[in-house]
Amino acid sequence: MDRIIEFSKYVQFTFGDSVLEIIYLIASGLFILGLKMLSHPDTAKRGNLWAAAGMLVAIIGTLFLHRHNGQKLGNFGYIFAAIALGIAVGWIVSRKVKMTKMPELVSFFNGMGGAAAALISLMEFPHISKELIAEHGMLNWQALVIFLGLVIGSVSFAGSMVAYGKLDGKVKDIRSKFLRLVNIILLIIIVTFIAFLMTRGHINPAELKPFIYILLGISLVYGVLFVMPIGGADMPVIISLLNSFTGVAAAMGGFLYGNLVMLTGGILVGSAGTILTVLMCKAMNRSLFNVIVGAFGGGGTAIESEQGLIKEISITDAAVLLSYSQKVIIVPGYGLAVAQAQHLAYDLDKLLEDKGVDVKYAIHPVAGRMPGHMNVLLAEADVPYEKLLESDEANSDMETVDVVVVIGANDVVNPAAEEDPASPIYGMPIVKALKAKNVIVMKRGMGKGYAAIENNLFYHDKTRMLFGNAKDSLQKIVSEVKSI
Ligand code: TAP
Repeated sequence: MDRIIEFSKYVQFTFGDSVLEIIYLIASGLFILGLKMLSHPDTAKRGNLWAAAGMLVAIIGTLFLHRHNGQKLGNFGYIFAAIALGIAVGWIVSRKVKMTKMPELVSFFNGMGGAAAALISLMEFPHISKELIAEHGMLNWQALVIFLGLVIGSVSFAGSMVAYGKLDGKVKDIRSKFLRLVNIILLIIIVTFIAFLMTRGHINPAELKPFIYILLGISLVYGVLFVMPIGGADMPVIISLLNSFTGVAAAMGGFLYGNLVMLTGGILVGSAGTILTVLMCKAMNRSLFNVIVGAFGGGGTAIESEQGLIKEISITDAAVLLSYSQKVIIVPGYGLAVAQAQHLAYDLDKLLEDKGVDVKYAIHPVAGRMPGHMNVLLAEADVPYEKLLESDEANSDMETVDVVVVIGANDVVNPAAEEDPASPIYGMPIVKALKAKNVIVMKRGMGKGYAAIENNLFYHDKTRMLFGNAKDSLQKIVSEVKSI
């Protein structure tokens, strides 16, 4: 009889484990499918839902089927209370946040992911190090995974919080060559410290405990300091790098627990973030090493150059110029998102196309405040994807363009990126609006862009300014074009 009970328990355990593995496989599949669908605006929303469904399946599976040393999970009261609290906070915050504040929210959520990964390491280190030292006399790869999870997670947390403050305009950049040196030294200290801990033999586990807190402290300081000097146009690169850090830190947790879905999720976020970082570095003409040690841009203050006269254009003149053009390129920027004028921009595009004008959009990789911001915005207005050109593509043909219409963009069309080595945006590729025959700039006044520097494009001979909220200006131009 005992044997039968034993056997049925064995079957139950094995069956439960296999079902859980299958659930994890399904969840991982849903993550991959979701990520794939995120790559196109038409499927992005569904992709998000698929990935969220994957996470739900993984959580339910873990709650009810996961066993640790043969024991099922307990403390369901606490677990469900924490999940309910998380859902409530996430729901309320994402309902309330304005579309233009999304990057801050993403940065904040990313920081939370890093903090969670770091906490896993903090919680697991005391008993795992004890077990390892009892068994092998020293730490092994499991401890290394814990250290890496702790360092990367806490750097991501601290860095994301600083990035959040910067995007929100609450934290100012601190630029200095000295900081770059400090960051390099901190990186060396972190690596040496981990090597020191890994090579300690026959140490009393209790003595190791304070070291993990020291490592946490140094990593948090490094996280703050390496984001501190980065600002202006370079923020997108750092945001995608921090994103990849959180993914890698979560993957470390998956490694530690032997949890496949956590490992897959972490690797997907980590690799997607890394690919995006490399693309952003390329788009901004920056090196990855400089990102990691927090050194970017010209590092100086832009030369506030001899600004010329500003020439304005009336609604009627703008409408006539556009209607009688052959080729028009619209350069959307953050101001378009603020004004929520994407639908009107497309209305203007359709009216002009009806008159035989070829209208395209030049999308700069860091226009707006988050990767793909302009693509999402224009997709919302149903602008066909084929009409969107990458900046390089638009630049290559710019001489043939009759009018470039800059709508709420500033830094991404600032010639200082090419002309002024002292400018913080120096080296960043731009949409070369000045190569076109005419430039119309729509903005409310002479406000600066995110990088807070002057833009000589606005004073150029070819440029005419159309002041006002982008939505109002577009509305008026649309009515005027209709009457031509
Ligand atoms: P910005 O350089 O930020 O310029 C936006 C311009 O829009 C401002 O000069 C502002 O001038 C104008 N504006 C604001 N509200 C407006 C409205 N309602 N109607 C008309 N104009 C309005 O934008 P950009 O050219 O898109 O460049 C993006 C910047 O953000 C880059 O420096 C980039 O590095 C940085 N950044 C990007 C990201 C990502 S991932 N995309 C993330 C963080 C930071 P007025 O005040 O005079 O109207």
